[in-house]
Amino acid sequence: MIVLGSDHGGLELKAAVQQVLEERGIKAQDMGTGNDDSVDYPDFAGKVALAVSSGEAECGVLICGTGIGMSIAANKYPGVRAALVTDEYMAQMAKEHNNANILVMGGRVMSDEAARRLVQVWLDTEYEGGRHQRRLDKIARIEEDVRNGRL
Ligand code: RB5
Repeated sequence: MIVLGSDHGGLELKAAVQQVLEERGIKAQDMGTGNDDSVDYPDFAGKVALAVSSGEAECGVLICGTGIGMSIAANKYPGVRAALVTDEYMAQMAKEHNNANILVMGGRVMSDEAARRLVQVWLDTEYEGGRHQRRLDKIARIEEDVRNGRL
């Protein structure tokens, strides 16, 4: 299952992403926001990141105005690898090299069509593993050090 979240700045792009997932028959859960009232992006980053961090959801998509706030907030959660992407190459690398489990985009910096393409590329790309796993393991060790008060 994929979980989705946005603030008011990402509402429109989220609808485009929902459409792609629906077309592909992928089960998705929208964790808000649901209208264009101004809200705080960490609240929605938190809902999506917690679902991914806990294993309740396999992966997620987060969208705010630029994608910056959502990625900063989501990456505070253990096990979350949230990648802000702005083009197809980044969407591909986010999965191939970083095994990003949350794709982050900016609703004010790209078109609906671009977002649709980036989501498809991220979904269709396989994680390469190998030397990249060593690097992800090092990130996991940083989280462990923080958890154990070593950092
Ligand atoms: C909200 O105006 C805006 O700051 C937010 O959507 C996002 O771009 C933050 O990074």
